[in-house]
Amino acid sequence: MKLKLAPGVLWLIAGLAIEVASAANILFLSPFTSYSHTHVFFYSIKALASRGHTITHWNGLLPREDLANVTHLHSASLHKMNSRHEIGFSSNNPIALMLTLPDRLSTICKAVYREPVFHQLIASQEHFDLIVIETFMNDCMLPLVQHFQAPFIYLSALPPLPWMLDYTCSPLSFQQFPALCTTFTEEMNFAQRVVNVFLNLMVIYYRNWFILPRVDQIAAEAWINSTVALSPVKEIERNMSLLITNSHPVINYQYFKSGLIVEVGGLHLVPPKELPQEVENFVNGSGDAGFIVLSFGSILRGASMPEATRKIFLAAFSRLPFRVLWKWEDELGMEDLPANVKLSTWLPPLQDLLAHPKMRLLMTHGGLYSNQETVWSGVPLIGFPVFGDQVNYVVKAERDGYAICLDWKTLTEDILYNAIQEIVTNPKYKQNAMRLSYLMRDQIELGRPLERAVHAIEYVIRHRGAAHLRPAACRLSPIQRESMDVTFVYTAFFVALIYLIICLSRFTLRKFSSVVKVDSLKKSQ
Ligand SMILES: *[C@@H]1O[C@H](CO)[C@@H](O)[C@H](O)[C@H]1NC(C)=O
Ligand SMILES: *[C@@H]1O[C@H](CO)[C@@H](O)[C@H](O)[C@H]1NC(C)=O
Ligand SMILES: *[C@@H]1O[C@H](CO)[C@@H](O)[C@H](O)[C@H]1NC(C)=O
Ligand SMILES: *[C@@H]1O[C@H](CO)[C@@H](O)[C@H](O)[C@H]1NC(C)=O
Repeated sequence: MKLKLAPGVLWLIAGLAIEVASAANILFLSPFTSYSHTHVFFYSIKALASRGHTITHWNGLLPREDLANVTHLHSASLHKMNSRHEIGFSSNNPIALMLTLPDRLSTICKAVYREPVFHQLIASQEHFDLIVIETFMNDCMLPLVQHFQAPFIYLSALPPLPWMLDYTCSPLSFQQFPALCTTFTEEMNFAQRVVNVFLNLMVIYYRNWFILPRVDQIAAEAWINSTVALSPVKEIERNMSLLITNSHPVINYQYFKSGLIVEVGGLHLVPPKELPQEVENFVNGSGDAGFIVLSFGSILRGASMPEATRKIFLAAFSRLPFRVLWKWEDELGMEDLPANVKLSTWLPPLQDLLAHPKMRLLMTHGGLYSNQETVWSGVPLIGFPVFGDQVNYVVKAERDGYAICLDWKTLTEDILYNAIQEIVTNPKYKQNAMRLSYLMRDQIELGRPLERAVHAIEYVIRHRGAAHLRPAACRLSPIQRESMDVTFVYTAFFVALIYLIICLSRFTLRKFSSVVKVDSLKKSQ
């Protein structure tokens, strides 16, 4: 009887749990964002809404499409801020970026706290089963977690930044996980490791000491009339249930993960659709040579390219047998356009182009999504990194043998022409892209990355958090977790021991020699 009941009770509990998940009310927060960062949000929200969850999404950009079961909160002023990140072809100084971060973040926090949407949310008294926050620069959303007393998840469009490894209590991996904005690879020499550890640790402590206190200060002003006594955001963050991150071991450098990290790199990948007729006619007409695509994504306006660089591209393209599709946002086009080049202010989704059998090569700034998409489709890449993390991805892609990394500053017509010829005619690039594509598609658990993300989110809802996944090392600082304090004690001990041995041997030597001296004196007397 007992044996019979136990599984029944278990099934009952399982049934209840799944019911809770299917009726969940979820709040997504990404008031600071960019088009590329909202990608992971859009696909996760769409999948969750279709499973019957009720979603409220405060997004910094206007909604891409209306979805049933989703309430969009947004505003024109945030849209304006988020659609112009003012990234040009000549701005990539990580130190300057870091130093200006507290000021940038406080500007963002103030703007966000001024929004009517924020006050509407606070006043709503709604119950949420889960809050999902965009990780990058949305630290001022953490007080909302305390306000609503809900479990929360971080959803990141980037592979983990140093402080994300810290707050997920992961081993820091700085011996093999290179700092963003550097050309370091996973194989660093001693000097590089010294720099890499310094850069990454500095960033972690910089955030703890200078950035988060700034957020606390601004939050306190915004919540001045609230009855909730706000904790420091750092403490609220310690209650994070999971970090869902857009990294993938085939695309990104390896790092060690605690159980709080769920990798869902490529969750936005969907089966390709047919191309619009006009584009299909152009690319299908390219004969055996095939076609190549030049596009700098959403964050960078291709048309803001310097004139000299534009001329280099045109000259190289005019010597090539391929057709070229070039995303160029300027309606006026170009007068000096070779016959094999087509400009377009809008391109179909890259995944659809990449799936075309005549697609030979993608040329891009090398953002994470384009890396994922080219590998997924088995197409080689030429990357021109411009900003932030892009250089890391392109350098890794070149090491993995499916890409060539070119530098804007030293680009010439011949360098570009030779790189394109090399990539299209040397079969190794295509072979490597196909090999990695096969690896990326071969995923054991829960099929597609999107299913993994949905499962992780519903898991946290079902269990009202994931405190049981937190490693005990979470109570240690990064220095303690890496056992640097212990190493220091050992080093100090060995230095002391060696010092002691030297002193002792000097002492005995002196004693011995004075005894010998006294002896020889006695003998001579
Ligand atoms: C919205 O949720 C309901 C269940 O509440 C579900 O049946 C429906 O399919 C969802 N709609 C969409 C478009 O996903
Ligand atoms: C706090 O309340 C006072 C009085 O009601 C009001 O004037 C002020 O604008 C409120 N401040 C904030 C930040 O909401
Ligand atoms: C963290 O979670 C615990 C348990 O749910 C709760 O008691 C505590 O108040 C939370 N801390 C913050 C700062 O929200
Ligand atoms: C592509 O071109 C070939 C002829 O070159 C034609 O037979 C085929 O139908 C075209 N495909 C599409 C999808 O237009």
